[in-house]
Amino acid sequence: MSETVKKAVIPAAGLGTRFLPATKSVPKELLPIVDRPILLYIIEECLNANINEIVLITGRNKEAIEDFFDVSFELEWALEKSGRTDLLADLKAIRDQVCLMSIRQKSALGLGHAVLTAQPAVGSEPFAVLLGDEVVFTEKGTPSAIAQLKDQFEKNSLSVASIMEVPKNNVSRYGIIDGQLKNQIWDVTSVIEKPSPNEAPSCMALTGRYVFDSSVFRCIEKCSPGRNGEIQLADAMNLLAQGGSLRAMTIEGQRFDAGDKLGYLQANVEVALRHPEVSEDFKNFLIEKVKGLS
Ligand code: UTP
Repeated sequence: MSETVKKAVIPAAGLGTRFLPATKSVPKELLPIVDRPILLYIIEECLNANINEIVLITGRNKEAIEDFFDVSFELEWALEKSGRTDLLADLKAIRDQVCLMSIRQKSALGLGHAVLTAQPAVGSEPFAVLLGDEVVFTEKGTPSAIAQLKDQFEKNSLSVASIMEVPKNNVSRYGIIDGQLKNQIWDVTSVIEKPSPNEAPSCMALTGRYVFDSSVFRCIEKCSPGRNGEIQLADAMNLLAQGGSLRAMTIEGQRFDAGDKLGYLQANVEVALRHPEVSEDFKNFLIEKVKGLS
């Protein structure tokens, strides 16, 4: 019988250089999309999948992440006194539902290394990985991105990654898969990290959601540091693929790379247009703005 996925690892120890200077002292995973930090959307995605054991991988200058989930006695007392407890109700509800653990990645040695850092908390169980700077919005009442991958994993206990089709001239920004598509699921035969358009076996790119069997740890341990001395998760996934135990699928939802300026702005527009407080005014602002551009 296949094992159920109860734990999620959220790597959040990267340097966030694409967002400097903002990320010099503020972790990018806490940058707000309208009024909620990126990380909160990601944790909600886990809760939608009934995953409530969350392992945060943090590092130097990332203490604010742990603080965010702590009780802020003075603030909460002040809000209580002024009858505005609703302002933190959402955060408190989420905080009460999750068991948060955090592990330090001593230096940012790459995503593969960040995932390996979670091993003591994950042990031999299967686990989800959600990149701490990527958000995927799904319609209310439908399974979140990680819930869709979890469902697939629980059918056959084979590691599974989310993928999306990208234009051929963008393949060099992603991990690209090769394999065969059967009933909407790819049997992945190899993963190539950031290939040139000529080398790329397909235009199907890995995105930041995965569910792994714990054998991925052994694969990561076998990988030597590549570009910039980083241990790439894609290299470990290539080993899984070569052993016939990696699947990939496209997921329903709108994905934004919020660790990148453009993706971050797009995610903000998307959320603002649905936000009960600002959607109307924001929509009118955008309409006027676009009129001014034409
Ligand atoms: P990125 O490669 O997008 O993050 O990793 P980065 O290195 O912080 O970004 P830039 O390119 O310098 O702007 C995706 C996720 O993995 C985490 C990051 O925090 C991010 O949430 N990560 C990355 C780690 O936890 N450790 C690492 O060594 C690298």
